[in-house]
Amino acid sequence: MTDRRKVIFDTDIGDDDAIALTACLLSENIEIIGITTVHGNLPIEYVNDNALRMVSFFKKDIRVYQGCRQPLVRHLNKGREKTTLMQTVKKVVAGRLVRIHAETLPLPEAVSKIEKTHAVSFIVDTLRNTTEKIDICAVGPLTNIGAALTLDKDIIKNIGTIYIMGGGLYMGNRTPVGEANFYDDPEAAEIVLTSGADILVCPLESCEQSATYTREDLDIIRALNNPAADFIYNVLDGYIKRGMVLFGGNDECCAYDYAAVAPLLDPGVNIEVRKDIAHVDFSGGMADGQLVIDRRNFGVWKANASIIYQQSSQKVHDLLLNLLRKYK
Ligand code: RIB
Ligand code: CA
Repeated sequence: MTDRRKVIFDTDIGDDDAIALTACLLSENIEIIGITTVHGNLPIEYVNDNALRMVSFFKKDIRVYQGCRQPLVRHLNKGREKTTLMQTVKKVVAGRLVRIHAETLPLPEAVSKIEKTHAVSFIVDTLRNTTEKIDICAVGPLTNIGAALTLDKDIIKNIGTIYIMGGGLYMGNRTPVGEANFYDDPEAAEIVLTSGADILVCPLESCEQSATYTREDLDIIRALNNPAADFIYNVLDGYIKRGMVLFGGNDECCAYDYAAVAPLLDPGVNIEVRKDIAHVDFSGGMADGQLVIDRRNFGVWKANASIIYQQSSQKVHDLLLNLLRKYK
């Protein structure tokens, strides 16, 4: 048995997910034992294809399992989309649909195919039968993880830590207070955060503080001059350009999901982490999907999730550069 931590990587693989997955695939500290796809950034077929392209490109014998193509229940209430001020994440420009996330990653076609086993079945069966704890990187809506915990709550005894990109401390992105992953499936997020599993959440502000990439950062990555670095450069370059088309703003982007998984690869990147009483609003109103942290000190309720309040931007950036530098 190797001492590499075993990891299930759950993703709606868009651009920042691709940065996170690359770092995990290149790290010698962990072993990804399966990739599970979920709705979110893109329709599930695109997510499947992007995940398969990545394992083919990095020549990894890792199986990809299709997960839930829609949230647990939020879509049943048609009014929920109309109860808040939504961010535009796609629009037609010059007759072409532009999404914030690339529908197809800049990689050659995949050589492997999606598994027949459903992602939620894979998660439950793997966690039921493992002889060692397994970590989960959850960087999309939490639908698959929420469904797995609903099927069999006991699997938490074999979960090490669930590393989650989600929530906003002071503001959202998809809505004024809702961050995309939590907003896209609030019920699943609440199930996961209150499951009793060991949870480490990296909210928007912490990701933006540690994993924002500027043109200067991209030039440093490109100078590494190897296929993995070129891929990361191309992903971030496209992410920046599409962000400017959709949102305007600066010539930079944030690799949210990479910030969330960085502590798995190097716990030293975290500066401030606090275990809080954390919930997700699923009432379907203006605050739908909001991360709600109870900072009152009543002592009545138990803290249930660790929140990353600050990471070292230098260490987060250096971690990725060092992994890319070693790529052969
Ligand atoms: O809000 C950022 C999150 O939503 C990231 O996981 C990004 O990939 C999108 O899924
Ligand atoms: Ca994501």
